[in-house]
Amino acid sequence: MTALLEVDGLTKTFAAGGPPWRRRFVHALTEVSFALEAGRTLGVVGESGSGKSTLGRCLLALSTPDAGSIRFDGADLGSLSRSGLADFRRRVQPVFQDPYASLDPRWSVGRSVREALDVFRIGSTLDREQRVRELFDRVGLNPELAERMPRQLSGGQRQRVGIAAALATEPQLIVADEPVSALDVSVQAQILNLFRDLQRDLGVAAVFITHDLSVVEHISHDIAVMHLGRLVEFGRASEVLARPQHPYTRSLLAAVPPAIPTRTHPHN
Ligand SMILES: Nc1ncnc2c1ncn2[C@@H]1O[C@H](COP(=O)(O)OP(=O)(O)OP(=O)(O)O)[C@@H](O)[C@H]1O
Ligand SMILES: [Mg+2]
Repeated sequence: MTALLEVDGLTKTFAAGGPPWRRRFVHALTEVSFALEAGRTLGVVGESGSGKSTLGRCLLALSTPDAGSIRFDGADLGSLSRSGLADFRRRVQPVFQDPYASLDPRWSVGRSVREALDVFRIGSTLDREQRVRELFDRVGLNPELAERMPRQLSGGQRQRVGIAAALATEPQLIVADEPVSALDVSVQAQILNLFRDLQRDLGVAAVFITHDLSVVEHISHDIAVMHLGRLVEFGRASEVLARPQHPYTRSLLAAVPPAIPTRTHPHN
């Protein structure tokens, strides 16, 4: 079976100031390689500045790597045609830390969720209204809330809207960058449970980025540990957590507070 996502030798460097003759560089990603199978959740952990968001942006085709390749469902992102890229954008959806960034403050949240259906011309106008209600229901929101403006919802509700928007196009992969970091711990657990239910019920794969290992412990099938732009550990979550190979992973594990309680473990 070919993997849904194959990342090979991904490298990205940023110029970080200094005069041209003594330019400093940040190696945000160095030779990062891994694969993710369909329907699985990969937790990407690492401290601030370790390259997690840079990886996420490359996976979403929002940033172009300097070297290396990303294959999604067998197709190289670097050589997608315009229509290939549009298709990719439908099949791979982002969820961000701050749903405010992805929700237009002037639109009702239902309108924001409908936007993806409009852009990708999914269903008739009537179907789209119905689909928005279904999506709200799917993420545990009363469909009546679709009329509200973003500022009229709680942080947790807004993140549910963000997830509904990501699900609108029935993606095969969701790339979520710190999707619960801005939320209270109790709300974090609810959103994590939602992610797992979606993974179980819809079979959507996820790359779940966080600086906090306790967040992904219970929802990840696989865990990738990043350190200074390198992938220092990758494997089945149960293996990585039980027998961490890299000293940095051990130090992360030692620093982990008790896990955020979620309902059940995924099957590994
Ligand atoms: N557009 C950019 N221009 C210059 N440097 C950048 C840019 N984006 C990221 N970097 C640098 O690349 C490194 C990795 O950044 P990145 O945002 O990927 O880390 P991160 O693991 O997501 O951190 P955090 O946990 O704080 O979100 C950092 O040193 C950062 O300063
Ligand atoms: Mg980041």
